Amino acid sequence: MFTSHEPAASVAVHTSYDGSNVVYRMLRLETWGPALMNLGYYPFRGPFATLNVVVNLELAQRQLVMKSLKLLGVKPEHHVLDLACGRGKSSFIIHCLHPGTTVVGMDLLDRNIAVANALFDHLPGLSYVNGDVTNLQFADGSFDRMLCLEAAFHFPNRAKFLQEAYRVLRPGGRIVVVDFAWKTEAHRESLDDPETRLVREIWQWDDFFSIADYEHAAVEAGFKIKSTHDWTSRVSTPIQAVFRCLSNLGNHSWGRRFLEWRNPLYRSISPADWKALDEAVHAHQHVRNNSNYMVFVLEKPQ
Ligand SMILES: C[S@@+](CC[C@H](N)C(=O)[O-])C[C@H]1O[C@@H](n2cnc3c(N)ncnc32)[C@H](O)[C@@H]1O
Repeated sequence: MFTSHEPAASVAVHTSYDGSNVVYRMLRLETWGPALMNLGYYPFRGPFATLNVVVNLELAQRQLVMKSLKLLGVKPEHHVLDLACGRGKSSFIIHCLHPGTTVVGMDLLDRNIAVANALFDHLPGLSYVNGDVTNLQFADGSFDRMLCLEAAFHFPNRAKFLQEAYRVLRPGGRIVVVDFAWKTEAHRESLDDPETRLVREIWQWDDFFSIADYEHAAVEAGFKIKSTHDWTSRVSTPIQAVFRCLSNLGNHSWGRRFLEWRNPLYRSISPADWKALDEAVHAHQHVRNNSNYMVFVLEKPQ
């Protein structure tokens, strides 16, 4: 039923996750490998955000899944669709926490689905499919719960995604969408700034929705907005502070020696990589200033 959907994407999503950019390479040194592929949810906020550099990235990533699942409200008999599941770990977490559920993880990249199948096979009730989540190949009302964690920024058409999600959700069902959004319509004016262009190239996106766009498109699709949450201070601000700290250390020979002592894999980061990281961190700060890290909890009326 499912064929490879990679060529259909208007953006080259695979370049965000294949080590061709320095931000991904840094994340891969810390943990991003055959694991979760999100930014994580951090304990230290505001002026203490840099302290998150001591937080294990993998634990922060799992915490982001757990926080999202708390809002999703999965029950034992539910059919759950994990949209853009990456390498399948979030679907596996849902399966572990909620025995009795049927969980399907879907991702655009067949290489991610191959990793998911290799890591999390032989578990009854958990399966993975390759597919474009903006064009779902499921019958109307197939799922009770859906999660879309940190992926919708890639989608060329988020309104269509929400319409598809609405169709495939059963009446009374719920979806949690976790995504970046322009703070206001006016912040979209930064879309073509050189810094934003660099971040768009690294993470392969054309545009964000604004928060108001999301709420409008959700209601247009038929959803009732149960709640909206701003996790900027827990996700995008802390990870930005961590990267700024790493980049600052990488600018000094003593800092590089410290990082290599802490994690010898940092020896693989070249001077050109450190320079590229510096530019990337500056560019991400610009996008961070104009956008928030948002959670939309949407319900399909009975
Ligand atoms: C930042 S990763 C997040 C993965 C996962 N949700 C997690 O938390 O680990 C974004 C994922 O979105 C997937 N993706 C992007 N566009 C997609 C689409 N149209 N359909 C399905 N998956 C898509 C990418 O392949 C990637 O695995």
